[in-house]
Amino acid sequence: MRDSKTLMLNAWKAGTVIPAFNIPYLPMMKPVMKALQDTNCFGLIAVSRPDWEKFEAKSIRAVYETYLEVKDERVARLHLDHVPVIDEDNKVVDYVAILTEAVDLGYESVMIDSSRLSLADNIAATQKIVNMAHKKNVPVEAELGAVMGHEDGPMPSYEELFTSGLGFTDPDEAKRFVDETDVDWLSVAVGSVHGALSAAKRDQKKVEARLNIDRIKAIQAKIARPMVLHGGSGIRKEYLLESFKNGIAKINIGTAIRQAYEQGLKESSAKACDNVYRTTVELITDELEVEGSARIINP
Ligand code: G3H
Ligand code: ZN
Repeated sequence: MRDSKTLMLNAWKAGTVIPAFNIPYLPMMKPVMKALQDTNCFGLIAVSRPDWEKFEAKSIRAVYETYLEVKDERVARLHLDHVPVIDEDNKVVDYVAILTEAVDLGYESVMIDSSRLSLADNIAATQKIVNMAHKKNVPVEAELGAVMGHEDGPMPSYEELFTSGLGFTDPDEAKRFVDETDVDWLSVAVGSVHGALSAAKRDQKKVEARLNIDRIKAIQAKIARPMVLHGGSGIRKEYLLESFKNGIAKINIGTAIRQAYEQGLKESSAKACDNVYRTTVELITDELEVEGSARIINP
């Protein structure tokens, strides 16, 4: 079976995308896997530190063990998403220990998120993780720029964010970052925002985001690596499809399936899982148009 690094490179070369579904509740894993199988779509099952801290994914070990119960290498790999170096409340996180544990457990790719640090410090933290993970042939994702939305405090309006390009990834910095870290996949800030994680905002409908396609092209021209789009729920489809043609090879989707799950839970856990299944199938076939990608990238 091909490794995650090769699969991503194949998707990137083919101009298609690998969806990464964020699983903040363990029972979501099974319906997401079934949706991937039924659409013959290759995807990543992902869990982030904010997910296991704020919802019920519990720990990276619990996620790994649940993954083993539903594992199907034909259509999925396991990814450790966002491990921030500093939490939202400015608490320093032992990110090296967490990411090392994930690699040792068997996660097939990992993400360090030191995007809130200076460029030099982001590079230094990412280098540590790349050195550790590459020894075990595990690809690493890192973020440059600030994909907004996880902040609890007030934020500028979306229009203000988008038109000012505040926090967007700088193409020259991206080149330096990739050259100095040898990171495998780069998460870029180009207009998407994360869905709300704070309890007060969790049910809010996400703002419909746009993407700065020119910025995506400019970054891609400087780095010959797959790029990643975070905050993937609720982006207008024409922007998504254009971004996939221009180097975005992985899209992270959390809010759309989490809200479907939580909505269904008001009725029953079976309804919640059914909601996740149907929403995931719809995203794959209608929004992302990647049905059949397993045949392209994982024959
Ligand atoms: O890290 C989370 C992902 O980027 C998903 O974002 O919840 O806005 O879809 P989303
Ligand atoms: Zn994210």
